[in-house]
Amino acid sequence: PAADSSQRLRDVTRLAQEHFQTQLWGSEGAAARAYLEARGVTEETARAFGLGWAPEAWDRLAERLERAGLREAGLETGLLQPRKKGAGCYDFFRGRVMLPLRSPDGRPVGFGGRLLSGGAGGPKYLNSKDSPLFHKADTLFGMDLARAEIRRLHRAVLVEGYFDCVLLHQVGVRHAVALCSTHLTPGHLQVLARAEARELVLLLDGDAAGLAAVERLSGPLLAAGVATRVALLPQGEDPDTFALREGAAGVSRLFDDARPLTRHLFTSVLPEGREASFEEKMLALGRLRDVVAKLPPGLMRTAFLDALSAHMGLPSSELEGVLSGPRLPAQ
Ligand code: CTP
Ligand code: MN
Ligand code: MN
Ligand code: MN
Ligand code: MN
Repeated sequence: PAADSSQRLRDVTRLAQEHFQTQLWGSEGAAARAYLEARGVTEETARAFGLGWAPEAWDRLAERLERAGLREAGLETGLLQPRKKGAGCYDFFRGRVMLPLRSPDGRPVGFGGRLLSGGAGGPKYLNSKDSPLFHKADTLFGMDLARAEIRRLHRAVLVEGYFDCVLLHQVGVRHAVALCSTHLTPGHLQVLARAEARELVLLLDGDAAGLAAVERLSGPLLAAGVATRVALLPQGEDPDTFALREGAAGVSRLFDDARPLTRHLFTSVLPEGREASFEEKMLALGRLRDVVAKLPPGLMRTAFLDALSAHMGLPSSELEGVLSGPRLPAQ
């Protein structure tokens, strides 16, 4: 019956979390422990997040799950893969530091796995595939540990990377959560709302991808009317290294300087304090087309266009037509 099979999926992810943790703290975990130490992650933090290690071997977890009679459920979570030839299965995650993705109440539902170093061995990160237990699109890494602090502050910090979240918590910024990809969904917003977050601070990487991510997240955030501010890291820096060097005090200075999302968007496409040419304004508008396209008709859209009109010194009544009309060749 369905109830039994979902219980078995929960058994698998719980057992896998224990298994990976045992490997990390055991004799085969030395390289992974050294990796965590090099990234500044303390043992206390690693234990709080349930971090683990999947050795290079092909069937450690497979053997463990077979013994527990959980092979089918192991396959269903994607932790086990069927062998191409013959019977049996092999481990999906190998040679990776394992980061449990947990439900807000702390049950492991999936995993992210990071390669010890770049180069050979596939992509830097692998994530569990979706299963009846795990929906990447509404899972926020760290939510189980952040929930109480979010509820206390009525604010959440959103970062891109798992390790960014881990190290922010370690230095005392405990309302940080990470996306499992760079897409933000209504499911994520619902999870945040349930934790009584009334404001979101985006703390994305200080690189071109981080800035592009702000633009990509803007549509859904503005459309949902989520009060959002954008904190900016120094160029080339991720939140983890910044947090380690500057501590909670440094991070809170970034938060103090964070600008409201709309102001961030407007000034990033067209800097303030200088008279822009008409052509520059048209190019700047073009960069906001995708954001505006996500805004449903209504107060948010109208208010956004009014504020944009003020920023650009262009008539509000004409912006709608320019932004939803045909693209100019330059765009
Ligand atoms: N990511 C991924 N696959 C990749 C690269 C990134 O799924 N090959 C996801 C991961 O969730 C990652 C996030 O995108 O945490 C942000 O990407 P990036 O900034 O490149 O990763 P970092 O978390 O900073 O990686 P690192 O461990 O090197 O700090
Ligand atoms: Mn309150
Ligand atoms: Mn990063
Ligand atoms: Mn990045
Ligand atoms: Mn990083």
